[in-house]
Amino acid sequence: MSQTPSYYITTAIDYTNGKPHIGHAYEKVLADVLARYHRLKGENVYFLTGVDQHGQKVQQTAEKEGVEPKAYVDEMTKGFVSLWEKLGLSHDAFAETTDPLHVACVQKILLNLKEKGALYKKAYKGFYSVRQEQFLTEKERGEDGEFGSEWGEVVELEEENWYFRLSDHADWLREFVTTSDFIFPEFRKTEVLNAIEKAADTDLCISRPKNRLHWGIELPFDKEYVTYVWFDALINYISFAGYEKEAGSDLPNFNDLWPANAHVIGKDIMVPSHSIYWPAMLHAMGFSNEEMPQLIVHGWWNLKASDGKSEKISKSLGNVVDPVELIEQFGVEATRYYLVRDIVTGRDSDFDPERFVDLYNKELPKTLGNLLNRSLGMLRKNFTEGIPVLSHDDEESSALRSLATELIAKYRDAMDKNDVPTALKEIYSFLSQCNAYADKKEPWVLAKDETKRDQLATVLCHLVEPVALVSVLLSPVVPTACKRIQEQLKAEFLADINLDDLRWGLLESGHEVGKAKPVFPQIALD
Ligand code: ME8
Ligand code: MG
Repeated sequence: MSQTPSYYITTAIDYTNGKPHIGHAYEKVLADVLARYHRLKGENVYFLTGVDQHGQKVQQTAEKEGVEPKAYVDEMTKGFVSLWEKLGLSHDAFAETTDPLHVACVQKILLNLKEKGALYKKAYKGFYSVRQEQFLTEKERGEDGEFGSEWGEVVELEEENWYFRLSDHADWLREFVTTSDFIFPEFRKTEVLNAIEKAADTDLCISRPKNRLHWGIELPFDKEYVTYVWFDALINYISFAGYEKEAGSDLPNFNDLWPANAHVIGKDIMVPSHSIYWPAMLHAMGFSNEEMPQLIVHGWWNLKASDGKSEKISKSLGNVVDPVELIEQFGVEATRYYLVRDIVTGRDSDFDPERFVDLYNKELPKTLGNLLNRSLGMLRKNFTEGIPVLSHDDEESSALRSLATELIAKYRDAMDKNDVPTALKEIYSFLSQCNAYADKKEPWVLAKDETKRDQLATVLCHLVEPVALVSVLLSPVVPTACKRIQEQLKAEFLADINLDDLRWGLLESGHEVGKAKPVFPQIALD
């Protein structure tokens, strides 16, 4: 019996303190593209994204603004949700960490871990920054051995807290990280292994006393404390997948979604939260190696500053690129395309508006748009009966068919490695070859010669068919444009095709295509 494979994909849950920027938009689009790609492969995809609503910063900002934390996060959440809508995300579920279903799951996990002896309470004495509300370590001392003025008043404080026996899992984790594909891309493994060495003998403080932080999930066994925000937030990946759900809950069945899954996160939150705390937590809960998720760790979008150098996106620099403005100015499909096209998954890239405009115009309007326009126009004009029956073949046409077959294989290979830019470059290169084929074959000249109708038929079919193929391959990245192309081809069935069935010969003889209308408007900088 064959079972439909499942693919459960999640993104880091955004921190609702501040406006979403292109880095957030990128992560969601990358996850969306992968989700849509896996759907194209016929997999049963479940795509979860959401917001991280607890913690010190939320409490502080809400206090500063004179509102309740819940009212504050609800307002911030709206900004993220509205961005996701504008980005055309195809997520199946939405995670909010103030959701009572999530709270119940976190508390259940805490109780289970405590029963297993994985948690303990101890007093800690150390230097504490009143202004920053955090314990300071030796690392925070300046060169003069003192804590700098940024920490404000520093006092020695003794505080009791709950700890998770993280160190119990260090040996297992080292072995697991080394021998599995838990960390993607692989070059980031070293950083994780180094971090494990540092963390090997320290346990994780998972509580905060309520007199210092009340905006969190209460410990079910010690009401004076709330749960440390990372311990709470990481659990979203399983709580919204139905882990330990109550009977009668609408949440999915955990076993349907887990373990075939990946978390899409940025490199800044790989160590220590996602690559150390999280697998150790899962391991303590009883998850086996086969039940561990994979981390797809992407790099950062930086900005190209006026001196041509790379500049970090930061609120204090005031250089946050607003993805909503990008969508308004250039359209959602162009924005999606650029965000996954001009960054190697796992590496950093500099956001460059000129490259955005040039890459998009060159690869979509001028290449695919042009091919769509000329192939449909000439086909309709010369063959009113639709796709003709072919009786001519030649070397160039046969070579183009081979290229199409190779393209599908290369595309799959790249996408299976989460390498979206390579997949897009392969598509562009194929389309350029199609346009070069048209320029060489000159169908507009063939059309003037009655004796060359069989050649004309072959050429036009070899121009329309690639458009049909590419409308499927590009659909994870620019879904709306691809749908419109398929409508113009009158080949709506392509929207439901399985990637395994994608091959040359999608449009059969007698198939009538519709009129070409512009799908990719060219864009320009103001
Ligand atoms: O870290 N380029 O939230 P967050 C690419 N709430 N990605 C970027 C980026 C940039 N310039 N800036 C941020 C949090 N990101 C936690 C996550 S998950 C259990 C809790 C990515 O809003 C960042 O790497 O600071 C992270 O994956 C995501 O945006 C949310 O970041
Ligand atoms: Mg962050």
